[in-house]
Amino acid sequence: MNYTKALNNPIFKIIAQAGQELNLESYVIGGFVRDFILERDFKKDIDVVALGSGIELALKVSELIPNKPKVQVFKNYGTAMLRYKDIDIEFVGARKESYLQESRNPIVENGTLEDDQNRRDFTINALAISLNKATYGDLIDPFNGLEDLQNKCIKTPLNPDITYSDDPLRMMRAIRFATQLNFDIEQESLIAIERNKERLNIISGERIVDELNKILSTDKPSIGFLHLYKTGLLELILPELTALNNVEEVEGHTHKNNFYHTLEVVDNICPNTEDVWLRWAALLHDIGKAPTKKFNKKQGWTFHGHEFLGGKMAKKIFERLHMPLNNKLKFVQKMVIMSSRPIVLAQDTVTDSAVRRLVFDAGDDVDDLMTLCEADITTKNPTKFKKYHNNFDIVRKKIIEVEEKDHVRQFQPPISGEEIMQLFNLKPSREIGMLKEAVKEAILDGKIPNEYEAAYEFVLSRAQKLGLQKADN
Ligand code: CTP
Repeated sequence: MNYTKALNNPIFKIIAQAGQELNLESYVIGGFVRDFILERDFKKDIDVVALGSGIELALKVSELIPNKPKVQVFKNYGTAMLRYKDIDIEFVGARKESYLQESRNPIVENGTLEDDQNRRDFTINALAISLNKATYGDLIDPFNGLEDLQNKCIKTPLNPDITYSDDPLRMMRAIRFATQLNFDIEQESLIAIERNKERLNIISGERIVDELNKILSTDKPSIGFLHLYKTGLLELILPELTALNNVEEVEGHTHKNNFYHTLEVVDNICPNTEDVWLRWAALLHDIGKAPTKKFNKKQGWTFHGHEFLGGKMAKKIFERLHMPLNNKLKFVQKMVIMSSRPIVLAQDTVTDSAVRRLVFDAGDDVDDLMTLCEADITTKNPTKFKKYHNNFDIVRKKIIEVEEKDHVRQFQPPISGEEIMQLFNLKPSREIGMLKEAVKEAILDGKIPNEYEAAYEFVLSRAQKLGLQKADN
């Protein structure tokens, strides 16, 4: 089969020429070929394999490009990279490779093209297109990768136990590709993942999170999380989530399965946000429910304080998986901690002051919080479903109204502490704090508007009750 049409970009002719000059064969391989056949968007990343030195080929290619782009050489790995226009091109010599058991660092040995294809992760990632004169554009597919692409199947070229044990990150990659491409994973592979799951221990948190982020960035992350769960990987990565997978019954009272609920919430939020951190918040929003679950005769099942505990647990997870401990963590924690606030509003009559308080507490994240909480509506009761969504619409409208009127999103007190101190000739004291707090509460309750005059009058009347004298100045 000829795939010259995949080689439109002028860089391929340049690589072909460089190969010819060096008398060395080269092939484009991996994701570029896979995505071309699947007609997926090109992701600006091309892998080239050389039968010989990938580094030499890269240096030659650079020479042939007018502006001679810089070649980055990774000697230990025998690879080199250069940037052509905005495309990253990675060159590697064909390898017959084995991995050290305790690390991901490969031992490199020269190999044939088929050796190289053999040591790749999946048949759909082992497809190569020739860049050599006599066979330019030919697809080289010794493991029926094309058929697997058509059958939507993730399969390893070698015995999966070998492929996964060589590089355990591939277990995550299999599940990530299945989610991104909506492919099945071959049964034998799934069983091998389960058998080799403990090998994930040698993979860094950063790499695992990279794959989790890719899964979370798809249209239906539940596909990936269900695979992770069934193969036992999720238990190793996020035991806080698998702990949610149970339903207990006491005296005929049950509670919902919060694991499957969570996956539904994550899928629900995807059409409404691309922000992977908001998707993380959806994933973690109920993790506090397993450790806080209690039963009592009066209330049935309760999860008191699960939001607050969930926020703390989110921090532990971020630390454990080496995720960024910056404003992203703060955001996820805030979403988890506040995750029940809008739903409580939506279940009841929506009052202005409750909305004002919500906006005050959530600040600029209030819209994200609303998006999260709307995704949290997974009730199968159509009457309730409709009612909650209607109430959310009311809350959204009120958020806009309240914001226009009272500007509580980034609340600034309309009267400052200094002014109150001057007004009563006081030093910083408990009374000042109380007065400031009372002003804020009055605004949030809708007793006074968020304006200077009203706040001034309010402070005077409050101060009188506290027995404070206005200074004469
Ligand atoms: N590869 C592999 N094992 C890995 C990582 C990569 O065998 N653990 C091989 C695959 O042939 C893969 C190629 O290296 O196609 C390039 O890897 P990478 O850029 O990570 O993945 P892509 O397949 O290009 O896809 P994506 O960028 O979507 O991850």
